[in-house]
Amino acid sequence: MLVLEKNALTEELEGLIEQYGSDRTALMPILQAIQKKHKYVSDFAQQEIARLLGIHPVEVYSVISFYSFLTSEPKGRNIVRLCQTITCDLAGKANVANAIERELGIKFGETTKDKRITLEYANCLGMCDQGPAMIVNDRVYSHLTPEKAVQILNEVK
Ligand code: FES
Repeated sequence: MLVLEKNALTEELEGLIEQYGSDRTALMPILQAIQKKHKYVSDFAQQEIARLLGIHPVEVYSVISFYSFLTSEPKGRNIVRLCQTITCDLAGKANVANAIERELGIKFGETTKDKRITLEYANCLGMCDQGPAMIVNDRVYSHLTPEKAVQILNEVK
């Protein structure tokens, strides 16, 4: 008789279902738990969550796309978010962005091969009078120049 071993992720999800229940309201806490542990919600995890909750996978995916703290792709250890809103834009965001992309060899929306840094754009960070501004993980940097931004990146482990 062929016995298929259950996937570890499926077992983990079944444990979360026991904890949070199997109706729609369990979707968000389950997604948060998976994101926290694995740093992203893989395609397989999305399919399994949909199956276990009896909902369509598109519903799971649309929740992940809506919330910026949920991701369907693995991200880097450090998240760099550069403000793209108008005031920072006028203050020289484009030059800072170009310098960052050149330094890391990736574009915004991408992650370095060594998974050290993910680059993202953000909307207003509340530092409009001190732009261009960016957040590296939880720390805010203001009055950026291309040189200052590159120096900050080089200090990120
Ligand atoms: Fe960039 Fe407000 S516009 S911080």
